[in-house]
Amino acid sequence: MNILVTGGTGYIGSHTCVALIAANHDVIIADNLSNSKIETVDRIERITGKRALFYKIDVTDAASVRSLFSSHSIDGVIHFAGLKAISESTRIPLEYYFNNVVSTIVVAGACLEYGVDRFVFSSSATVYGDNEVPFVETMELLSVTNPYGETKVMSEKILTDIAVTNSAWSVALLRYFNPIGAHESGLIGELPGGVPDNLMPYITQVAKGKLDKLRVFGGDYPTVDGTGVRDYIHVMDLAKGHIAALEKLPEGVHVFNLGTGQGTSVLELVQAFEKANNLKIPYEIVERRPGDIAKSYADTKKAGIELGWKAERSILDMCRDAWRFEKSY
Ligand SMILES: NC(=O)c1ccc[n+]([C@@H]2O[C@H](COP(=O)([O-])OP(=O)(O)OC[C@H]3O[C@@H](n4cnc5c(N)ncnc54)[C@H](O)[C@@H]3O)[C@@H](O)[C@H]2O)c1
Repeated sequence: MNILVTGGTGYIGSHTCVALIAANHDVIIADNLSNSKIETVDRIERITGKRALFYKIDVTDAASVRSLFSSHSIDGVIHFAGLKAISESTRIPLEYYFNNVVSTIVVAGACLEYGVDRFVFSSSATVYGDNEVPFVETMELLSVTNPYGETKVMSEKILTDIAVTNSAWSVALLRYFNPIGAHESGLIGELPGGVPDNLMPYITQVAKGKLDKLRVFGGDYPTVDGTGVRDYIHVMDLAKGHIAALEKLPEGVHVFNLGTGQGTSVLELVQAFEKANNLKIPYEIVERRPGDIAKSYADTKKAGIELGWKAERSILDMCRDAWRFEKSY
């Protein structure tokens, strides 16, 4: 298939481009490079031996998106492009609503206009808010705790409503848990600008000496050691989940959790990183961050049964691969 990947030079997008090319799909990337680098396109080529087409486009801009659709025959879209930092979304909510919701409307609109009926959307475990763990796809989404999560709930709703009136549409709403790690080549990985919002790049930057210590946000959550618990998934396992969704998706709207089903606390992840890489990570526990919750992990049965997909890599693999990328970049 010829797949349009919005946000394809970003963290999850670039790994998914590698997985798509490995599965013999052709890839067209549309990215405005607001949070990624053009050299990622070369690195994807170095890994796969095949060049993805790249367009520097803001996908909230309907004219640019329509022009792209009019010049390529597209079989399916994976829509990654968006802003993703929960805490930032509590400070600049309007930018989050605009970028994340308008991009979904624009890309879905182009799909309708050009007869593209396969749509895979990057949603997030954040949509579950502080429901009881493990999070199951059938839960009501009534307790979202931040604007970023709201943009994902809104986008899911928009895509669901479109599918109701377009019976040929196949939509996968993929709710990612916490992707970490990097491609085993060490050529692509997570590249946050400024102080990282996510835990693993924060740890790797401390390991590299770019930051002096890890700030752990909250040590008084009702968890195993007081720090937040998350379901970490290797980014290459997550990437493969997209291929399964694209290739196996029946018509209609289908929601899938993509996680491992295992919860790991911040301090447990730090210990795993130290063990995997034989390093020490100094840390301090500071105030909780607005919008964060105590525990998040997935019920993963549905993706296993319906997509035949399961995460395979361990926490130690994730820690080794993340450090290999940070060291060599
Ligand atoms: N990384 C996570 O922990 C996580 C978890 C759940 C869901 N998600 C979602 O997955 C998707 C990808 O996340 P990621 O971690 O790869 O983020 P990322 O920031 O690395 O990648 C997003 C890419 O989209 C591009 N982009 C942003 N706005 C754009 C626009 N208007 N037009 C064109 N390109 C635009 C950025 O330049 C970047 O390359 C996002 O939608 C995010 O919300 C991420």
